[in-house]
Amino acid sequence: MQYQVKILRFLPEQDDRPHFATFEVEADPADRVLDVLEQIRGEQDGTLSFRRSCAHGVCGSDAMRINGRNVLACKVLLQDLDSTAIVVEPLLGLRVIKDLIVDMEPFFDHYKSVLPYLINDDPLPGDGKERLQNPADRDRFDDTTKCILCAACTTACPSFWANDEYVGPAAIVNAHRFIFDSRDQGAEIRLSILNEQMGVWRCRTVFNCTEACPRDIKVTQAIGEVKRAIQTGRVE
Ligand code: SF4
Ligand code: F3S
Ligand code: FES
Repeated sequence: MQYQVKILRFLPEQDDRPHFATFEVEADPADRVLDVLEQIRGEQDGTLSFRRSCAHGVCGSDAMRINGRNVLACKVLLQDLDSTAIVVEPLLGLRVIKDLIVDMEPFFDHYKSVLPYLINDDPLPGDGKERLQNPADRDRFDDTTKCILCAACTTACPSFWANDEYVGPAAIVNAHRFIFDSRDQGAEIRLSILNEQMGVWRCRTVFNCTEACPRDIKVTQAIGEVKRAIQTGRVE
């Protein structure tokens, strides 16, 4: 089938501002948008730039806007789009470096700011091998372990567009993953970080983040649980 693919391009060495370029592509409806981008780069314009790695929805590197929605290009089939006219743009709210490649550093700075790692200074118990956890305690934060740091949620959030100092849903999801882990002892410090001006209270419960998440994480619910833990002073 014939597809018309409009891509928002920006080549820093020659462009003052981004502009759309249109490519005509012959492709199979069962192809993914990532396949089409590869085809354009391989056959029509070798300068087209985008990130990709696994091509199977695991690495999170190819998040972009396709027909106005934040998605992973490797998870979208052409046949699942509304029309044969496809518009591809970089994520909103992060600086465009080139074409579909955005600067992820501010996103990862927010991620790092919530201390996304196990904090526990106690010596390892008994046999010194591992800290045990029962299945119910493990289930408590199972959903937020699925994050692949693709940034689709944070860059779909109007609060983040309005102020990119807002820590954003992805960082809160990754804080949630440790706050509710029974083996972790850093909940208090993380909750105090997220209670600051650019923390969870910037979230206005818009739900764009939940809709955008390619891992189907209940992002808004996780943010709500963190808000509640701050308000009650209890992690449960
Ligand atoms: Fe991506 Fe979902 Fe993680 Fe947000 S929560 S970074 S959308 S995987
Ligand atoms: Fe933004 Fe998601 Fe909250 S879209 S406002 S972080 S519910
Ligand atoms: Fe890895 Fe799409 S290329 S998630």
